[in-house]
Amino acid sequence: MKAVIPAAGFGTRFLPATKSQPKEMLPVYDKPIIQYAMEEAVASGIDDILIITGRNKRSIEDHFDKSYELEQTLQKAGKDRILKQVRKITDLADVCYVRQKEQVGLGDAILRAERHIGDEPFAVLLGDTIAKSKTPCTRQLMEIFNKYQKSVISLKTIPNTRQNKYGVVKASPVEDNIYKITQLVEKPQNENRKCLAIVGRYVLTSDIFDKIRETEPGLNNEIQLTDAISKLDEVYGTVFDGKTFNIANRFDWLKASIEFGLETDERDELIQYMKTFIG
Ligand code: UTP
Repeated sequence: MKAVIPAAGFGTRFLPATKSQPKEMLPVYDKPIIQYAMEEAVASGIDDILIITGRNKRSIEDHFDKSYELEQTLQKAGKDRILKQVRKITDLADVCYVRQKEQVGLGDAILRAERHIGDEPFAVLLGDTIAKSKTPCTRQLMEIFNKYQKSVISLKTIPNTRQNKYGVVKASPVEDNIYKITQLVEKPQNENRKCLAIVGRYVLTSDIFDKIRETEPGLNNEIQLTDAISKLDEVYGTVFDGKTFNIANRFDWLKASIEFGLETDERDELIQYMKTFIG
């Protein structure tokens, strides 16, 4: 299966940080967000990845490209550990790029992948979202796809106060933690209950491309992927066994940076530092 990582959006919620650098290149602890998505795809068994980029997104291509000068400098300095890390980024997968010329929504960004994907099912990992888990999120979706051969989306339960920030679904259970989706709405304003939200990981069948073409601009006058998915005849969902961070939102960025920092050698120092703010 191939994967598509859309990363062409403007990232207006993270301005001014995103004025001249892609949101997807903001570091969480010591890695750009998009590298987490790329590593998740690779850990799920995917080695052909298409990134949807746009103007001002060149640093994404540079990040996954070979960096001769840097490698030579690190080699001469005997910095082997960091050299290995730098080389690993380039060797992760076969990466292709296509530009979305106008940022008119995630649905439109996915449509740019049609020529690369053809009529095969494919995974989508939003380039601004980190999914942290033992079994990679995309792998969890691929397993369900293999059973049902229908589009599958990853979900999480959210309180009603947060639903205007997500695409949310109505769904009925079909088996343990597998739901058949009956309705999808992008960022509803007046739902009033705990609900299931879409978290930025999908396995989609290729008929989504026709559905995107049939989709009129929706919320914010953008072609919404959620609206196109709701036109598919059968869609399944599963509550993701792990944690997601949507870095479009700066508080999630802060939480993710702390959480990944706590997994390093700097853990104790970080905890001591945070304790200085309590009491
Ligand atoms: P968002 O919905 O967060 O949109 O995109 P955005 O434009 O990046 O950010 P805000 O809302 O202005 O803060 C979710 C993912 O879809 C990509 C983004 O790059 C991000 O990874 N996207 C979004 C596109 O590739 N193209 C678009 O037209 C919109």
